[in-house]
Amino acid sequence: MPAQDFVPVADIAELSEGEMKPLQLDGRRLLLVHAEGHYYVIDEMCTHEDYSLALGCIKGRRIKCSLHGSYFDLATGEPEEEPADEPVCSYRVEVADGKIWVNPEKLREGASTRCRR
Ligand code: FES
Repeated sequence: MPAQDFVPVADIAELSEGEMKPLQLDGRRLLLVHAEGHYYVIDEMCTHEDYSLALGCIKGRRIKCSLHGSYFDLATGEPEEEPADEPVCSYRVEVADGKIWVNPEKLREGASTRCRR
């Protein structure tokens, strides 16, 4: 069982490689992503024009916003292509007891601290 403040958001079997799942936690819209063998939880909405990244696609360890084409690094949340110039938040994730857990109050190690929280 992960440390306190982590909440289970999905069973491991629920999310195949390359899939994502929108989450609602404490009124916040987040996105769980399974990419290249890792799980990431980021803000669901693109920082450019509040468009859902759940409508985008996963490219390696990046996610592409389908509205104007910005890429975001899933681990750091940093944008890698314009027009977005602000990062999304990337949160701490753990895998335990057959589930994926997230702490939506803590940023992932190495995540950008410039994100809006
Ligand atoms: S809304 Fe995402 S890049 Fe414009």
